[in-house]
Amino acid sequence: MAKGKVDALLGIVFGDEGKGKVVDWFTPHYDVVARFAGGPNAGHTIIFNGKKFVLRSIPSGIFDAGKLNIIGNGCVIAPDLFMAEAKELETAGYSLSDRLVISRRAHLILPTHRVLDRAYEAAKGKDAVGTTGKGIGPTYSDKAARIGLRVGDILEGFEEKYARLKKRHLQILSDMGFTDFDLAKDEALWLEGVDYLRRYRLEDTEVVINRALAEGKSVLAEGAQGSLLDIDHGTYPFVSSSNTTAGGVCTGLGVAPNKIGRVFGIFKAYSTRVGSGPFPVELFDATGDRLREIGCEYGAVTGRNRRCGWIDLVALKYAIMINGVTDLVMMKSDVLDTFDTIRVCTAYRKDDMIIDTMPYDTAGWEAVYEDLPGWSTPISNLRRKEDFPQAFCDYIAYIEHNLQTPISIISVSPDREATITLREV
Ligand code: GDP
Ligand code: IMO
Ligand code: MG
Repeated sequence: MAKGKVDALLGIVFGDEGKGKVVDWFTPHYDVVARFAGGPNAGHTIIFNGKKFVLRSIPSGIFDAGKLNIIGNGCVIAPDLFMAEAKELETAGYSLSDRLVISRRAHLILPTHRVLDRAYEAAKGKDAVGTTGKGIGPTYSDKAARIGLRVGDILEGFEEKYARLKKRHLQILSDMGFTDFDLAKDEALWLEGVDYLRRYRLEDTEVVINRALAEGKSVLAEGAQGSLLDIDHGTYPFVSSSNTTAGGVCTGLGVAPNKIGRVFGIFKAYSTRVGSGPFPVELFDATGDRLREIGCEYGAVTGRNRRCGWIDLVALKYAIMINGVTDLVMMKSDVLDTFDTIRVCTAYRKDDMIIDTMPYDTAGWEAVYEDLPGWSTPISNLRRKEDFPQAFCDYIAYIEHNLQTPISIISVSPDREATITLREV
């Protein structure tokens, strides 16, 4: 964590890699923690002192009293959900207003964006993306169409701007014949959230961050979602609607590329995906169910079953390239403790064609595996790499060799202290 630089922690698969835990663990080493993309579609779990928190819009650095947290311009924010999240933290004893700054350029998720999200999904039928239903796609669409509302809009002439955009959304819904919604209750809470948001520091966060960097402070950019859900580089159209990759750090915070320091790419020792879309390593058998059960692979936001499979080195290699990953962070290694054989996807096959690079569309490709022996012993209580079983060390070495990138951090349980560094970070 170099002074005057922005390090990034990016999910490099399909999200839910364990970003929340690692950002919380990293926070003591940084002065500022900033979210640069996404919104309440994210669910970042942090467990300490036996208590579990799921953060959606608020950065995972919020538990450390001395640190500044930023919601950057690349994010989208739902005032009602933000209010609920903030109040829960305040009730638990973590004050926010003195250590959270929100970009005035971040876009607002309106109640009608959420209805549109549902309407568009319903209209897609079997081709639905399986979104989180939080209005993410429609909000980013309005941003790109230059008709969106921004956080800064709540400070001046808000009622009129809101009424105009709401009217437009209601017209679209009417044209689509979508009537399955009751706006009144949702809207009342949302407007209360808008009022609540006004008490926060709503600023030009790109200035705040660049000033901090000029003072020699260190910044951690907390990714949301994962690289394969990136609007440009993910498995389009089964993706989210923002740039979740390294480029998004620059645009979503207003920092220049030469300010980026290390890029930590976080992944699980196996794979998961929630929502629709191609997933070559997906297991439909008892092994997939076992991974889901042991790994508690149920969505932090929607409660949906996460789809499970073995690790996918083809996808990881692609994500490392796109993001310029300098260090890998491997999570949930303990979930593999009881598997005699651990499979590793090293290539994709379609008919008699075998490739080890990411194709334009992964649909129709099946995984080609190599088998490695499992370690068949619990590792959750281990805290030193010297104590790792040999087969686990071999698994780490195999991945590092194949990906040509070092694994610098290993996690062996949800707890903060179950985080082992293999290299200096
Ligand atoms: P995020 O969205 O990337 O922050 O990840 P989520 O919070 O959605 O999902 C990660 C889940 O894995 C959470 O329930 C964490 O508590 C849990 N977790 C994190 N690290 C580990 C680990 O090393 N082992 C196990 N068993 N669980 C972990
Ligand atoms: P975190 O930050 C896992 C998925 C949804 C859906 C697709 C589009 O916790 O890792 P959206 O609501 O964004 O339009 O949904 O992206 N998705 C996630 N999957 N983790 C996330 O966030 C996700 N955020 C969105 O399931 O397939
Ligand atoms: Mg999550």
